[in-house]
Amino acid sequence: MKKYRIAIVGAGGIVGAHIAAIASNANRAELVALVDIDENRVQTICRENNIPNGYTSISDMLERERPDLVHVITPSATHTRITIECLKAGAWVNTEKPLCGSLAEFDAITRAEQETGCYANTVFQWRSGSAGKHLKKLIETNALGKPLVGVCNTLWYRTQDYYGLAWRGTYKEAFGGPTVTLGIHLMDLFLWLLGDWDEIRAMTGTLDRDIEVEDVSMALVRFANGAMTTVTNSALSPRQESYMRFDFQKASVECSTLYRYNNENWKISLPPDTEDVPTLAHWDALTEDIQGSHDNQLKELLDAMDAGRRPPVSGDEARRIVEFISCLYKSASTGLPVKRGELTPDDPFYHTNKGILEVPQ
Ligand SMILES: NC(=O)c1ccc[n+]([C@@H]2O[C@H](COP(=O)([O-])OP(=O)(O)OC[C@H]3O[C@@H](n4cnc5c(N)ncnc54)[C@H](O)[C@@H]3O)[C@@H](O)[C@H]2O)c1
Repeated sequence: MKKYRIAIVGAGGIVGAHIAAIASNANRAELVALVDIDENRVQTICRENNIPNGYTSISDMLERERPDLVHVITPSATHTRITIECLKAGAWVNTEKPLCGSLAEFDAITRAEQETGCYANTVFQWRSGSAGKHLKKLIETNALGKPLVGVCNTLWYRTQDYYGLAWRGTYKEAFGGPTVTLGIHLMDLFLWLLGDWDEIRAMTGTLDRDIEVEDVSMALVRFANGAMTTVTNSALSPRQESYMRFDFQKASVECSTLYRYNNENWKISLPPDTEDVPTLAHWDALTEDIQGSHDNQLKELLDAMDAGRRPPVSGDEARRIVEFISCLYKSASTGLPVKRGELTPDDPFYHTNKGILEVPQ
């Protein structure tokens, strides 16, 4: 099996999770270089983690190291430019969420994929958990009946100090508030599980933090399969919880956690006064317990590299959440329902979540 040469760009708060993920796949991958514009951070993190080569320039690193894969974990507004630069240098890319700030940027990344034959994967570590994958299979095989009602709540708490970091709290640097920075994980999982969505009606508000972007958003979402759902993203909730609920014809399935999940965070309930053994047996067939984590998502990306195929959270599988968030902001700004597919290049919300026409360079 080929051992892949991996570089990381960005040595901030989340770098430890990426270093650990590469170490946990050490039989298949090695971390050969780290880049950050802050030279002190490069030196410190390289020394502490035995990373052989540190750089302050991405292009120097790409030229000298020729990595197979680059993890892009810089502030969100830099993701598109760096992702495209790495693709053009012949590397596959694993970029932290949010991959980009608009459909325009997403489509620019897709063009770079087409030109180079390399792929850009988005880090959504929750996709790799065994319970989520199990539920996806049960939905696809109709084992629980039709999905009817859903709830997707990211109720987290972020203080004003959290928004002290220069790039957080603005449309330009962070693309939005908890919708795009916090709730994006759970919403991505929710949309992946329920399939195509059809229509969204949303509201956003800035209720208690001194920031340009929202600190809470709420949406009503109808799916193509008819399911009706609510989605809430909050940075204002003292008792924090990430909560998803799916009411199928034959059972309710719920997940309650905060930042990561194992099987124990999920439960199934049957309708009152029912003892439906086959439905419970379907759920109980879940035996392996894999956490949705950076380690496990990287393993799946390396599998895709081995097979030379598109990685699981790229292409249409990564565009869905970008389109959803842009449509949520459009609905909240205009007060109108937004249909999937209506954001085309002549719509300002194709270009930014603030609805201002800015054609990317
Ligand atoms: N998947 C998750 O659970 C998760 C958790 C936290 C953060 N994130 C994402 O990870 C990304 C980084 O977050 P963070 O909290 O580590 O940010 P951070 O601000 O702590 O660190 C960012 C680092 O990038 C460096 N940097 C900035 N511009 C650069 C450039 N052009 N070239 C090279 N380095 C540059 C900065 O000097 C800094 O060290 C964000 O996109 C965030 O949304 C994901």
